[in-house]
Amino acid sequence: MTGGGFATSANGVEFEAKITPIVIISCIMAATGGLMFGYDVGVSGGVTSMPDFLEKFFPVVYRKVVAGADKDSNYCKYDNQGLQLFTSSLYLAGLTATFFASYTTRTLGRRLTMLIAGVFFIIGVALNAGAQNLAMLIAGRILLGCGVGFANQAVPLFLSEIAPTRIRGGLNILFQLNVTIGILFANLVNYGTAKIKGGWGWRLSLGLAGIPALLLTVGALLVTETPNSLVERGRLDEGKAVLRRIRGTDNVEPEFADLLEASRLAKEVKHPFRNLLQRRNRPQLVIAVALQIFQQCTGINAIMFYAPVLFSTLGFGSDASLYSAVVTGAVNVLSTLVSIYSVDKVGRRVLLLEAGVQMFFSQVVIAIILGVKVTDTSTNLSKGFAILVVVMICTYVAAFAWSWGPLGWLIPSETFPLETRSAGQSVTVCVNLLFTFIIAQAFLSMLCHFKFGIFIFFSAWVLIMSVFVMFLLPETKNIPIEEMTERVWKKHWFWARFMDDHNDHEFVNGEKSNGKSNGFDPSTRL
Ligand code: BGC
Repeated sequence: MTGGGFATSANGVEFEAKITPIVIISCIMAATGGLMFGYDVGVSGGVTSMPDFLEKFFPVVYRKVVAGADKDSNYCKYDNQGLQLFTSSLYLAGLTATFFASYTTRTLGRRLTMLIAGVFFIIGVALNAGAQNLAMLIAGRILLGCGVGFANQAVPLFLSEIAPTRIRGGLNILFQLNVTIGILFANLVNYGTAKIKGGWGWRLSLGLAGIPALLLTVGALLVTETPNSLVERGRLDEGKAVLRRIRGTDNVEPEFADLLEASRLAKEVKHPFRNLLQRRNRPQLVIAVALQIFQQCTGINAIMFYAPVLFSTLGFGSDASLYSAVVTGAVNVLSTLVSIYSVDKVGRRVLLLEAGVQMFFSQVVIAIILGVKVTDTSTNLSKGFAILVVVMICTYVAAFAWSWGPLGWLIPSETFPLETRSAGQSVTVCVNLLFTFIIAQAFLSMLCHFKFGIFIFFSAWVLIMSVFVMFLLPETKNIPIEEMTERVWKKHWFWARFMDDHNDHEFVNGEKSNGKSNGFDPSTRL
């Protein structure tokens, strides 16, 4: 299983590193952490379109949708705060948990943090699958959310620390690939369980999340702690021994020296979040936050969460709607492979800009068809138009999956300088989950009020974000991670202006770390 090879450090020194079994295990960790997140994203839409589930927990919606008691608008059948809370509570819990997770990843380590995530997941799954009432159901979703918060902070960190440098980028998108596989798996499960008579199909759907949850927990028990985390917590000898083991060589001195230095620098930063707010870190912070907001404002999760609901709104039967959701799930996975293949060849900007055009076009076409063909109370969408809508949704999902999906995570993780990288990751995860929550909570109401205009709303966002990419997002392809400041930010027509001041270094024990002056520099500009 071991392959020879060298990895290049940020400063150009070659480190000896083989792809050892332990690195392979770390890939499996990525798979299970990502799978779990994806499964949670994908499962709720199918479950919330199952009549048995609605009858038990959301009788009001059930009456509107199934029994036809209410002659409500096509677009408003599912507009119910409780139903939206079922989906979105997970993300609210997740974004709160991120702050605790950034503390535990530092003090307890990456491995224990992943273990905590696994335990949250298992209890959450048990509560969900066995739910007797709405409170149990939501409590389960909240625990799953805590799991997501802990896992999404620790797993990517764990991976990038344990991976040899030369395969770190690939591993990053591999995480997203597994998110998409998790979504597809959930769609397939829902497709099968929707056919179960007797009212327990939804329990099986929610319960099968136990598989990725168990895998993550067992995985966390089996793998080693990262050397970085051991060194960070003062366990130097252990850290060096682990580094030898994962690199498959005794020649680890250069990498270990780098690790000690990185840890020393990181320790100097006493207030990572305050440091993040300084002017010279503004470009990366703005890019990371904007990318997360934009990623969610593409409207992708409106499709991912509510595809079955959306398709049944469009007049597909419940079976056909889950079937369509499976198709979009498969397109999502396959198109992520396109990204893995091309991201280091054509670059980030080309992918984002091409996808912008493709997403804008498909959303506008969908809006036009729905606007003309689907009225409030009757659906006269012919088979041909229905298929065209599905094709356009697939075109849209494909574009997302090779652009904003993986790059929304990749770009923030590669642009921050080391001193702000982990705080930057917390902010990235937190903003992402916050906006996922907002979309999840608002989408069904927006569908009800905007009707087909919802797709125009998202297409307007796609236009805005494409203009942002065009002028403000620099290309980071093939730039070593520690050379971003010199080669990217200082050369950018707009962001370069933030790179000119060197006076606002982090305070260390009341003094500036560069020792040149005391106190906060009042001239620090916005
Ligand atoms: C996003 C998720 C989304 C998924 C879809 C991820 O990059 O962060 O919110 O559900 O892609 O594949």
